[in-house]
Amino acid sequence: MTTLNINGHDHSVNVPNDTPLLWVIREHLQMTGTKFGCGAGLCGACTVHLNGEAVRSCQTAVSQAAGKKIVTIEGLDPKGEHPLQRAWIAEQVPQCGYCQSGQIMQAASLLAKNSDPTKAEVVAHMNGNLCRCMTYARIQRAILRAAADIRGV
Ligand code: FES
Ligand code: FES
Repeated sequence: MTTLNINGHDHSVNVPNDTPLLWVIREHLQMTGTKFGCGAGLCGACTVHLNGEAVRSCQTAVSQAAGKKIVTIEGLDPKGEHPLQRAWIAEQVPQCGYCQSGQIMQAASLLAKNSDPTKAEVVAHMNGNLCRCMTYARIQRAILRAAADIRGV
């Protein structure tokens, strides 16, 4: 049995230690906001936070996540009103939407440390999160909008 703390709640799961965290989140716990894209650490669709750091949950074994604070898109904000989520709506970012929870989780790890990033810093931080619908320009605008919101400007 492994106990995982996800979005503030403990979940006990009976899976092999090397099971990817993504599988547990989606298949065992039925939290489907986190997406399966490539399964190989190449797209970022599966991004969650582990102790505040953005990680690829398809490449993170449950044994690495045990005892840490895991946050998924469902737990980013209790009401779904994180500044990034509001900015995503304001900028009408998603197209198909598949990559977007990973994009938001990746962006949230940046803004938690730096609420005044330059566009170049945003681009560098988001570099590994792919979007087949090419929403990159709107993603960048939304992150800068959310940063301004957090700073109160
Ligand atoms: S599904 Fe994990 S990086 Fe693509
Ligand atoms: S919105 Fe379709 S993959 Fe990004």
